[in-house]
Amino acid sequence: MRLLVLGGTHFLGRHVVAAALARGHDVATFTRGVSGAPPEGVRALHGDRDDPDALPRALADWAPELVVDTSCQTRAAARNAAAALAGVSGYAFVSSLNAYRGWPPGPVGREDDEPTWDTDEDDYGPNKAYAERVIGAAVGEGFLTARAGLIVGPWDDVHRLGWWLERIARGDRVVVPDALEQPIAVVDARDLASWLVTAVEQGVSGAVNATGPTGMTTLGGLLDVCREVTGSDAEWVPVPEADLLAADVQPWVHLPLWLPRGVARTAWDVDTTRARELGLTTRPLVETVADTWSWLQVSGRPPLARMAQLAEPGLPAELEASLLARHDQAP
Ligand SMILES: NC(=O)c1ccc[n+]([C@@H]2O[C@H](COP(=O)([O-])OP(=O)(O)OC[C@H]3O[C@@H](n4cnc5c(N)ncnc54)[C@H](OP(=O)(O)O)[C@@H]3O)[C@@H](O)[C@H]2O)c1
Repeated sequence: MRLLVLGGTHFLGRHVVAAALARGHDVATFTRGVSGAPPEGVRALHGDRDDPDALPRALADWAPELVVDTSCQTRAAARNAAAALAGVSGYAFVSSLNAYRGWPPGPVGREDDEPTWDTDEDDYGPNKAYAERVIGAAVGEGFLTARAGLIVGPWDDVHRLGWWLERIARGDRVVVPDALEQPIAVVDARDLASWLVTAVEQGVSGAVNATGPTGMTTLGGLLDVCREVTGSDAEWVPVPEADLLAADVQPWVHLPLWLPRGVARTAWDVDTTRARELGLTTRPLVETVADTWSWLQVSGRPPLARMAQLAEPGLPAELEASLLARHDQAP
């Protein structure tokens, strides 16, 4: 079928393109064309989705039947997609758990029991919830919204897992939060991408919490896998949460994937029953981490492609040095 990927040249979108080609679809991508090109065999359509004329112009000679939308970050982008693509038979929208008013901290129960944002704030979660409503109303029956959790894997330009891999590979003593037992759940971009393509083909509709199963690993388990795949001799230096916060270490940003205990207790508790019933798979974590590490070594981290401003992940070297020094002095 004629399948349009809104996005498609970075991270998740790139894997969606690969999955759609593998399923034999006639694939087009729609991007501004500033951050890379799709692979050979894909129709590269160009325009800025914040411009209301761009999609109609680009699609004048090629009308998609199915859409996978990985790149919607603004309200204008949502309205423009709703206006231009209302007639498709299937539309898979990549949303986020942030669309839920109560997440974080969560927990997140079954999709239909949890309210989403309905405010006017120009913010990530409210914008995703707005986009779900606007595009969902335009497309009707064939609209699927995948509320993704933490997405990881090769081509991840956000670089949260990537930062840990690079830091751990350098070895020596590594500051880690004293919360290694904290649960964590991730979804490999390739698992999510191939599921999105088959789900949109099959006409799956409604909302789906699209992340790994609760309890699939812990923060410590994930860091151990990073140490294993990088062959590092890194030694963990667990620093108590109070010390990290007192030193202005920002959870999630300076130490990616770490959340303070009060939030972590519920934030990783997401009901993914529907995703499992609908066939979203979870490959072994070691495979995700090893493939991300191989890709990073070959390609290096690409420039950040997304529109929303994201803080640069990672613990600044001086902050790490001072935490290590303080820890050395601790009784
Ligand atoms: N990373 C996570 O853990 C996480 C968690 C939950 C949900 N999500 C969601 O998952 C999706 C991640 O997908 P992704 O990484 O493939 O997408 P993305 O980073 O949101 O978008 C990048 C793609 O969109 C294109 N693009 C950017 N601005 C554009 C514009 N104004 N008009 C047209 N195209 C534009 C880019 O190409 P050009 O630069 O050439 O235009 C590129 O192909 C996002 O929607 C994100 O919000 C992510």
